Amino acid sequence: MATKIKTVFFCQKCGYESSKWMGQCPGCKEWNTFVEETVKATPKSAVVSKGTAGALGEYKKPQTLSEIVMTDEERFDTHIGELNRVLGGGLVKGSLILVGGDPGIGKSTLLLQVAGNLSEDKREVLYISGEESLRQIKLRAGRIGEFSDTLKFMCETNLSDIEEAITRAKPQVIVIDSIQTMYNEEVSSAPGSVSQVRESTSVLLRIAKSMNISVFIVGHVTKEGQVAGPRVLEHMVDTVLYFEGDRHASYRILRAVKNRFGSTNEIGVFEMQEKGLMEVTNPSEFMLDGRPINASGSIVTCSVEGTRPILIEVQALVCRTNFGFPRRQANGTDYNRVNLLMAVLEKRIGLQMADYDAYINLAGGMKIAEPSLDLGICLAIISSFKNKPIKEDTIAFGEVGLSGEVRSVNMAEARVQEAKKLGFKTCIVPGALEKKLKASCKGIEIIGVHSVSDALTLI
Ligand code: TYD
Ligand code: MG
Repeated sequence: MATKIKTVFFCQKCGYESSKWMGQCPGCKEWNTFVEETVKATPKSAVVSKGTAGALGEYKKPQTLSEIVMTDEERFDTHIGELNRVLGGGLVKGSLILVGGDPGIGKSTLLLQVAGNLSEDKREVLYISGEESLRQIKLRAGRIGEFSDTLKFMCETNLSDIEEAITRAKPQVIVIDSIQTMYNEEVSSAPGSVSQVRESTSVLLRIAKSMNISVFIVGHVTKEGQVAGPRVLEHMVDTVLYFEGDRHASYRILRAVKNRFGSTNEIGVFEMQEKGLMEVTNPSEFMLDGRPINASGSIVTCSVEGTRPILIEVQALVCRTNFGFPRRQANGTDYNRVNLLMAVLEKRIGLQMADYDAYINLAGGMKIAEPSLDLGICLAIISSFKNKPIKEDTIAFGEVGLSGEVRSVNMAEARVQEAKKLGFKTCIVPGALEKKLKASCKGIEIIGVHSVSDALTLI
């Protein structure tokens, strides 16, 4: 079929397509983001005759639920518990997984480890790198450990060569590192451009679905923290994982933002060590490591990430301002929320903080915006303001409303159990939950508070 080359303009931010150049993108309202790219125009007749069957393999008869046969092994075990959890219980066969994250965060390391583990189970794995040479990969692999021979490596960026290699080798899992380096000869724009990224992903999608191969795709993120290239990339894949963390801290968090095969609330916690990424199976212990004892302005609170409670230390430093205008700063939590809580404390319990600076920090570099942290933040502020330490075996959680009331939060029992597991003796909880928690959680003191002024009496 004869194909015509046509040029179109793509917004480099959101992937909006237009036949002419525009100053402002109607999709994302950004200015000057349109870039001309050439694409292959498929004649209309070809589209009609091929239908979607062309993209997703052969045409199949519609089936009822009872006709669909489930085979035993729909998921591979990656032998990395934290990753399995984020994927919803293992790697689904024939799925496309996009792994995004800042440079140097550990995407290639994680995927090499996954590839290694899968090959230990005698799965055929093909690791395709467009960023590193085979020697560089070998050096990295040398640090991580031993690998089995069912794991093969390839340095290639041309998608038709990659497709050829895949058809011959018939692997069960492929890793593409990274999508921004891949190119399709039929698209003339540079690798990393919107049409290249989109085209490359659709080729990989076709391979994954027609040959039932699981594909991990590494995607770079932009300064704004989104996978570079169009948003359509996220729509095309089954699962989008983001690898985040502070470059200076050793721990890393893997978060699912989209998952067709599981929950998107789950997180996986890892630590970057000498020999690659290690799982952190008990993040609470990890987060509380090195906590100051008997220091004012510090309290432990509990946040629930997915189904897992994580204990976190909230620190506050409230000190007299040296300038006319007090400074407020929040690290790891929402700045506006901290301002709101300080206003509540000022109005409801008369804490005069107008000429005090306040710095709030979630220790360990975690970023959490869950309202259940409110009570902990309030207590930390009060403790620092009064310069009175809170007993170190105490945790507090609860949402604080504008009237200073402490409202209940979900999964309270799991939070209390986590605190008990780590040896805490007292839990300050929302008053409404006191009775229930006292009945269900033995061996730990439960104190219910109905408002922040109740909480004030505890310090
Ligand atoms: P990498 O996986 O290359 O990141 P990405 O692919 O996301 O860009 O991560 C590399 C970083 O991790 C690098 O700064 C070195 C560090 N690292 C370790 O600390 N220990 C190790 O065993 C490995 C392999 C890497
Ligand atoms: Mg890399």
